[in-house]
Amino acid sequence: MTEKIKQLVDKVKELLEKASSVAEIGDIRVTFLGKSGEYTGLLRGLKDVAPAERGTIGKLINEGKVRLENMIAEKEAYFRKKEEAKKLASEKIDVTLSKGYLIGSTHPITKVKNEILDTFIGLGFAVKEGPEIETDYYNFQTLGIPADHPARDMQDTFYISENILLRTHTSPMQSRTMLSEKPPIRIVVPGKVYRADDDATHSPIFNQIEGLCVEEGISLAHLKNMLEIFAKSTFTKDTKVRFRPSYFPFTEPSVEVDISCSMCGGKGCRLCKGTGWIEVLGAGIVNPVVLENCGIDSKKYSGFAFGFGIDRIAMLKYGIPDIRLMYENDVNFLKQYK
Ligand code: DAH
Repeated sequence: MTEKIKQLVDKVKELLEKASSVAEIGDIRVTFLGKSGEYTGLLRGLKDVAPAERGTIGKLINEGKVRLENMIAEKEAYFRKKEEAKKLASEKIDVTLSKGYLIGSTHPITKVKNEILDTFIGLGFAVKEGPEIETDYYNFQTLGIPADHPARDMQDTFYISENILLRTHTSPMQSRTMLSEKPPIRIVVPGKVYRADDDATHSPIFNQIEGLCVEEGISLAHLKNMLEIFAKSTFTKDTKVRFRPSYFPFTEPSVEVDISCSMCGGKGCRLCKGTGWIEVLGAGIVNPVVLENCGIDSKKYSGFAFGFGIDRIAMLKYGIPDIRLMYENDVNFLKQYK
């Protein structure tokens, strides 16, 4: 056994001498010290050693293991440093060198936003923008969400003071518009919104588009038709749309809108978790309470509304796996969208 330990240590030494990259060293580590590595196997062989010697041999194996680990780590650090220096040298920028002007490109979010707005402009919608710093009144109360309403929990709000906040959605522009204009109203509202949320699919600042149409005789059928046109022009002609019942305080009935998966076309894949459908937006028939809050006769008029995240649509459209990529301004990421 003592001989075997020495042999393996020598073998690793020899291989390390010949190795020339971090990756090769990683392979050596796995081959010898991995779960089913050659050296790790020695410990398993310990049971065949005479009980009297087991202690001494076990100690030798462990000492050898520490030596191997140290040798491997040392070599690895050496090559890591070398590879890093090489990478830095290759990315070095000579700022005195004139390469002419670098022309920027439209950000993927802006690109998708403009395409979507074009679709709705074609359907007779006007584009409106509103304040990002909003009052509690417009962001919540006019939309049927009084103080203490449980629906406030759906949106983690950044408050500036008790009544002033960063808007959590573009929906306050629904009430702002209805309070200042008479039907017929057809608007789409793009803009930044804010929520205390931060992971691969949520950013504390993101972009939404709100839609509102208030006219006589508007029904869910009109909403579905508009959203089908939106889905087909944003993704592909074959994209399908389905409604699922949901709840929003400002719409009644409310729906969650799914589109057939943009990656597999509805067959089922990793992106749609095998269902063939992807949830993209919330919508519904404007709650008569909201119409009345905004001075619109709910017996005469009805409307539909919808709201969705532009970032999410851009991620689906371009297969971007992490929302944060769109906010890091890495030129190598951005120039793909030229
Ligand atoms: N404001 C909702 C949100 O940000 C989205 C939404 C749902 C907007 C339904 C609507 C709507 O206009 O009708 O979660």
